[in-house]
Amino acid sequence: MDKISVGLIGFGTVGSGLVKVLNENRETIANRLGAEVVLKRIVDKDTTTDRGVDIGGAIFTDNADDILNDDDIAIVVELIGGTGVAKELTLKALDGGKHVVTANKALLSTFGREIFGAALKKNLTIGFEASVGGGIPVLKSLREGLTANKIESICGIINGTANYILTEMGDKGAKFEDVLKEAQEKGYAEADPTYDVEGNDTAHKLALLISMAYGAYIDLSDIYTEGISQITPTDIAFADELGYKIKLLAVAKNEDGVVSARVHPTLLKKSHLLSSVNGVYNAVFIEGDAVGSTMFYGQGAGMMATASAVAADVIDICRDIISGGKVRVTPLGYSESAMKDRLSIKEMGELEVPYYIRFTAVDKAEVLSKITGVLGEHNISIASVIQEGEVKAEGGSVPLVILTHKAREASLEESIREIEEVEGLLAGKTLFIRVEES
Ligand code: HSE
Repeated sequence: MDKISVGLIGFGTVGSGLVKVLNENRETIANRLGAEVVLKRIVDKDTTTDRGVDIGGAIFTDNADDILNDDDIAIVVELIGGTGVAKELTLKALDGGKHVVTANKALLSTFGREIFGAALKKNLTIGFEASVGGGIPVLKSLREGLTANKIESICGIINGTANYILTEMGDKGAKFEDVLKEAQEKGYAEADPTYDVEGNDTAHKLALLISMAYGAYIDLSDIYTEGISQITPTDIAFADELGYKIKLLAVAKNEDGVVSARVHPTLLKKSHLLSSVNGVYNAVFIEGDAVGSTMFYGQGAGMMATASAVAADVIDICRDIISGGKVRVTPLGYSESAMKDRLSIKEMGELEVPYYIRFTAVDKAEVLSKITGVLGEHNISIASVIQEGEVKAEGGSVPLVILTHKAREASLEESIREIEEVEGLLAGKTLFIRVEES
């Protein structure tokens, strides 16, 4: 049986999962591939910590050159993360004629032009299934399964940590900080967890989905990004009362060639399929013009789920190698000459959706009428109002929640500014959350 050698750089949580799955499922993989995947070398700067996995016959060192200079190794798996050393090693591996598999969405969403470009020039593959949706084979589905479709929209819950936090806050009324700590202990969170909670990790993943869906590179600065750190258990409870869940959503919608690209907390009707995606689970809802609606669901983070996607990329590349070395599908699913350098992006001010607004209102009779008056002047019509709670202290405040019908975001922002300027109406900052209707 043919043997294909692989080198792993980065022996952390996902790296350990990869070693485990390649070992434990060796026979199944060999039977499917018709060749043996041999993990020949592992490199990590920490060679002493016991990862609790059997590395078999792999040679374990702390120098990445041991892999890059090994001509027998055809595939380099980069699992160190970050955009510094990881970029350098990825480009070196490609330059040396090696295929690369990575879970590094930060790297590919920031330096996609350069890295995908380098791979295409050399007829090499960058496998990055694990970078979006952990173990869910959503990239392969988008790139290959939906290849005949024009992609109309993508709506996804693609950060396990944020989804876990929102779920636990809702179920247990738990505090944001406590749940975040738990997520970090379970190994879901990024090295810098602000990436998870402030939406950056979701934006990195959305950038990759957009590139694949529309055959264009996109700058991260073109994706409006807002996280969940301002969401309180009170908002989750009010949303529930109104018939909604709050989810951190990645949204890409093609509206006549202009793409709305955004990441933000979103109110979703409880009946929406994405509303029942809880905990560390991720799901991506994709609409294509031919296929209609599709949804991909699974564990978006964690050692073995992510390793499953990394291993699948390795095996896919092995298939290309076995069949003669021609890369059958480009990493983004578009031919190099068809890739667009820019997309036309919809301004957030032009967005028209319903909004949930939470005012921290001074508990006086005329406050509600003044607020609704300003909204009315801006053509913002109201669907529901909730004002509950008892003010204990003199001059105290109550949350006042308004659900609007569809409104233009620029008008909404302008009316909130005007309301905030009126003396004696509000006693705290106003929060608004977009509502997804479809
Ligand atoms: N920190 C990420 C998440 C890991 O929570 O989803 C997978 O990308």
